[in-house]
Amino acid sequence: MPKHGEIAGWRIRMTNQDQNLAAIVNTTQGSYRVVVGRNIVHDLGIELAKTGLQGRAFLVADEAMFPNPTRKAQEALERGGYETHLLALEIGEKNKNVETVQVVYEWLADLRVERGDIIVAMGGGVTGDLVGFVAATWLRGVAVVHVPTSLAAMVDSSIGGKTGVNIPTGKNLVGAFHQPKLVLQDVAHLKSLPAREMSAGWAEAVKHGFILDAQLLDMFERLAPQMKALEGEEPVEAIRRSVAIKGEIVSADEFETGDQRILLNYGHTVGHAIEKVSGYGTYLHGEAVAVGMMVAAGIAERLGMIDTELVDRQRRVLQSYDLPVRISELDVDELINATKSDKKSRGGTIRWVLLEGPGKATTRRDVPDDVVREAILSVLD
Ligand SMILES: NC(=O)c1ccc[n+]([C@@H]2O[C@H](COP(=O)([O-])OP(=O)(O)OC[C@H]3O[C@@H](n4cnc5c(N)ncnc54)[C@H](O)[C@@H]3O)[C@@H](O)[C@H]2O)c1
Ligand SMILES: [Zn+2]
Repeated sequence: MPKHGEIAGWRIRMTNQDQNLAAIVNTTQGSYRVVVGRNIVHDLGIELAKTGLQGRAFLVADEAMFPNPTRKAQEALERGGYETHLLALEIGEKNKNVETVQVVYEWLADLRVERGDIIVAMGGGVTGDLVGFVAATWLRGVAVVHVPTSLAAMVDSSIGGKTGVNIPTGKNLVGAFHQPKLVLQDVAHLKSLPAREMSAGWAEAVKHGFILDAQLLDMFERLAPQMKALEGEEPVEAIRRSVAIKGEIVSADEFETGDQRILLNYGHTVGHAIEKVSGYGTYLHGEAVAVGMMVAAGIAERLGMIDTELVDRQRRVLQSYDLPVRISELDVDELINATKSDKKSRGGTIRWVLLEGPGKATTRRDVPDDVVREAILSVLD
């Protein structure tokens, strides 16, 4: 029998028999399992078979995962009874575009991929977004499975069905909602992820603790060295819980029309502004979000919503994951202007995600300009 735990008001599903199950995401396009464990890529074929999908599997992987991890994934799919074809591509933010989509389409065309076939995306968030978009559009939509291999992709982008590519005018301007049929996360894949990318991923995971789960936050705070070293069960458990939070939010607010999915934007208003003003690629997304979280905490403190102790605590936790909490050489006015053009702001007013306490976030539209300015200035060198 499944047990239901009550964590920060969110129902987290736990089953004894199915220890790796982090979440069941319920969407208008169906429900899917997100499984998280160590060395579980071996189960990819078995897990896929559980979805009832038949057809051939087309594995599109980030070249960073080639050859060993992709080979294991391919073998696992074949053991599950799926004829499997593999395409390894160099996929990065610079070629997250329609030209790369075209390359994948041509491969699918050559192999005559049909409606009943399955596309498996293996790599970081760029791979997931691009291959997810290919799956959303090939023959007007075929099944996609995500095997995220970066921490950011695990705790964030692989769940929720947002897919897309960049065009010269802006990032992620072309895309579709296309929910996966399965998300399988093998924590062992993180062993080869560069340290800076790991930290950027921890930023999103830690963010989930700050906005919705005080217990998870405690865990991240207490066990930072162990988390970073990926030692023992605790990091796997923390990733699983972070995934569960994202899964619950997506289930509650699939299209970001309610009050839940916006909470994931904590630290992102200023984070996006930092990425834009500093030039994309200068800061990793998670690094910019960490600084953005400090600005948001500064705003909440100035509005009397939280005390200095929580601001200091957030700073310490982020620093313990080697994340920046201040930035230099950026101009406050440029940053403020960039926050105003953020796509999440509507009609000129920004909906700020702010903390009310550890594990408790809310939104406010009435933040005075001078409070925003002071909070930004307080993180600038
Ligand atoms: N769909 C969503 O909801 C959503 C949410 C947030 C971000 N995103 C998107 O995600 C992208 C960022 O994702 P990301 O941070 O994973 O970037 P990424 O895909 O570029 O991966 C980061 C780097 O790590 C490498 N890599 C990935 N896994 C590895 C591994 N296990 N070992 C060694 N190297 C590995 C990649 O090749 C790349 O160089 C952005 O394009 C962003 O727009 C999407
Ligand atoms: Zn983010």
